[in-house]
Amino acid sequence: MPQVYVEDIAQHVGQEVTLKGWLYNKTDKGKLRFLLVRDGTGVLQAVVFQKNVSPEVFEATDTLTQESSLSVTGEIRPDDRALGGFEMDVTHLEVVQVAESYPITPKEHGTSFLMDNRHLWLRSSRQHQIMRIRSEIVKACRDFLDDRGFILADTPIITPAACEGTTTLFELDYFEEKAYLTQSGQLYNEAACMSVGKTYCFGPTFRAEKSKTRRHLMEFWMIEPEVAYAELDDIMELAEQYISYITQRVLEERKEELKTLERDTSWLEKVAPPFPRISYSEAFEILKEEGSETPSGSDFGGTDETLISKRFDRPVIVHRYPKAIKAFYMEPDPVDPELALCMDILAPEGYGEIVGGSQRIHDHDLLLARIQEHSLPVESFQWYLDLRKYGSVPHSGFGMGIERVVAWICGIEHVRETIAFPRMLHRMYP
Ligand code: 4AD
Ligand code: MG
Repeated sequence: MPQVYVEDIAQHVGQEVTLKGWLYNKTDKGKLRFLLVRDGTGVLQAVVFQKNVSPEVFEATDTLTQESSLSVTGEIRPDDRALGGFEMDVTHLEVVQVAESYPITPKEHGTSFLMDNRHLWLRSSRQHQIMRIRSEIVKACRDFLDDRGFILADTPIITPAACEGTTTLFELDYFEEKAYLTQSGQLYNEAACMSVGKTYCFGPTFRAEKSKTRRHLMEFWMIEPEVAYAELDDIMELAEQYISYITQRVLEERKEELKTLERDTSWLEKVAPPFPRISYSEAFEILKEEGSETPSGSDFGGTDETLISKRFDRPVIVHRYPKAIKAFYMEPDPVDPELALCMDILAPEGYGEIVGGSQRIHDHDLLLARIQEHSLPVESFQWYLDLRKYGSVPHSGFGMGIERVVAWICGIEHVRETIAFPRMLHRMYP
């Protein structure tokens, strides 16, 4: 019998097919057993009528517990009452394994319990929808850049130096030498873009941030484009097109998933260029009006980002932060050298920063001075300084955190649900 998936079931009406999956739910009605079988692409109601199957098969249905694995064979027919509009008239059924008593039942469970059982929690409907949306977002991220001539260059995970400040490094022993897990592929991207013009990297990045917020993970995935000859305005434009493209793709391709998550998509439909652009000082004015006590010149916290982004109906670009609170590699603003030519994009509905980027210093001596000011080991950055000796050009790029984007697009509260196995403060099991 041909094996089919629930997502293609409409093409098999009138045919006898086999579906392989897991038992999601079961109801008994005398001579009838209604089995809800999920296969990863959807859920199908399989109806076992006593007179259509052998006595062994009918008895076997009574042994089936939640999450038991099984295959069912039978004819597909349309049925308005069934979930998804189709059902299977079962003629044969094979039990692959009868599951032990499943810990995650339809009743409410606490977050800590669910996190301990993350390996099983992934099977529940909500987690399943989020995984599908994440996968679409990643694909859209790649397609956008691939279609625009960006060349993927994978950057190392094990690195000899910091990119985003020395306070959040995970240290490891590299054959008696100190090494760190990468915080960003950016510095290597800068080298790659001097070769291929437009490049990107996409991989896991690590921050030993002792923060327990709904936006922070210790390990997160970041996609980072970098463009030679691009200046700050160019990458702001690239980023707003990028975010709009991704949002539209999910709206088109993952409608059902968004519906199941009860996402209010009217917010996502508004995501189109141009995004509003405000300077750091304008953002600060908003904070003052909102009564925030964040001191002038300091970085925005999560609450501040929420206050700022609530003023806009789509993502907002905040540019030109004080250089004192930003990374060493950012080009100073020629108009006011105390400011950096950088930008963050804050997602609406209180989601906050999803993108951070900047124009990079391309002058050798200025970069060297900044490395020294930040007390970074010059030897480790010699290769990076080299890039400023051999045909140095202005260049810019940004990084987008996949988990933050998934949280925002799915409309979920916490990033812990946006990746299959989140690494959080004090949690790395399972
Ligand atoms: O703003 P960040 O630190 O920028 C960089 O790493 C640059 N080197 C990127 C570049 O220009 N190529 O991080 C970029 C993005 C943030 O906007 C956020 O979306 C995400 O990475 N991010 C995190 N996501 C989850 N957990 C954390 N702890 C994160 N830290 C940053
Ligand atoms: Mg940032």
